[in-house]
Amino acid sequence: MNSAINMTSKLHSSFLPSNNILSFSPKPTSPRFTLPHSSSSSKSSICMSLRENAPSIAVVGVTGAVGQEFLSVLTDRNFPYRSIKLLASKRSAGKQMTFEDRNYVIEELTADSFDGVDIALFSAGGSISKQFGPLAVEKGTIVVDNSSAFRMVDDVPLIIPEVNYKAMSHIKLGKGKGALIANPNCSTIICLMAATPLHRYAKVTRMVVSTYQAASGAGAAAMEELELQTREYAFNLFSHNAPILSNGYNEEEMKLVKETRKIWNDLSVRVSATCIRVPVMRAHAESVNLQFENPLDEDTAREILENAPGVVVIDDRESNHFPTPLEVSNKDDVAVGRIRRDVSQDGDSGLDIFVCGDQIRKGAALNAVQIAEMLL
Ligand SMILES: NC(=O)c1ccc[n+]([C@@H]2O[C@H](COP(=O)([O-])OP(=O)(O)OC[C@H]3O[C@@H](n4cnc5c(N)ncnc54)[C@H](OP(=O)(O)O)[C@@H]3O)[C@@H](O)[C@H]2O)c1
Repeated sequence: MNSAINMTSKLHSSFLPSNNILSFSPKPTSPRFTLPHSSSSSKSSICMSLRENAPSIAVVGVTGAVGQEFLSVLTDRNFPYRSIKLLASKRSAGKQMTFEDRNYVIEELTADSFDGVDIALFSAGGSISKQFGPLAVEKGTIVVDNSSAFRMVDDVPLIIPEVNYKAMSHIKLGKGKGALIANPNCSTIICLMAATPLHRYAKVTRMVVSTYQAASGAGAAAMEELELQTREYAFNLFSHNAPILSNGYNEEEMKLVKETRKIWNDLSVRVSATCIRVPVMRAHAESVNLQFENPLDEDTAREILENAPGVVVIDDRESNHFPTPLEVSNKDDVAVGRIRRDVSQDGDSGLDIFVCGDQIRKGAALNAVQIAEMLL
């Protein structure tokens, strides 16, 4: 457990019609493996999940917060598979888990785990990815990795399907050739889901992000700890628990800076971030200030966002209804509101927006499964 948590010290996603906030309906929280179809799954045409001619898959870190969500998302999206292997540490090996009405025994992750596995979804932390990711690739497995282990490695695509799916177009399933694909950091995904459609229109030259991040971003144990330590959490917030670097930024903040440049393939974009943990169980919120090369007024921005895949606009000024972490928890779409001209900038050269997204879902498991879907 990290120090700050120990606080005692619309591509594949939906293309929502304009203003269709009602279709952003709540999903039941926490039922595992039996969730109904996600409202925002345009790939729901993929069905008959368990079938002979589908890839064999493995979920690494299946007992964790993201691992559990992988299983929910695979079910929600009828992801086709020939077989599924549930992998975790020695501690969990031998335990039983039910997935899509079948019983499975959790296996210990070893070097042999990937024999015959076509796609492996990794979420067991960076060191496990570094150790086992390349071994899996050697066995011909395509690894979609949720950790930061390979994100900034040059020839590893860093993918948000709605943003830069083309960067993984050279990776093909069924050729017996393994590969690594990295899932960006959760805060980066949530931010760029909203910022990219605007960037495409008016070119972002500078972006300043302030995050309000949920406890579950630090894993299942942190969620439990939040429940146990509600009193300490409830009246406070904390700088993100990632290590502080020599430039004064923490690692989470620098991930947002570097990953944005890689995903947008734009080394010139200037990004700054401040990442804060708040006493929220699930879903991150982010205040994003954007500066553009070309003018973009707030009405046009709202229209662009209303038509962006995987994004829903909640921006009701009259009733003060804007995105909240609770409202986006267990949802696929990233919600955007507080869309307004930045009065500190000239003309229409700047905007402020407020974004909320479920970081376990779109920030991790859903994004990874969407990546895997693009391999099919
Ligand atoms: N939580 C989020 O919101 C989020 C978002 C984006 C990305 N991520 C990334 O996803 C990864 C997992 O995060 P999480 O929040 O799901 O963590 P978590 O809840 O703590 O789960 C960790 C998982 O890793 C497994 N594991 C630990 N040591 C292992 C080993 N030696 N061999 C095999 N499996 C091992 C654990 O298995 P046991 O139960 O057997 O120990 C568990 O299944 C991290 O890299 C994290 O940065 C998390």
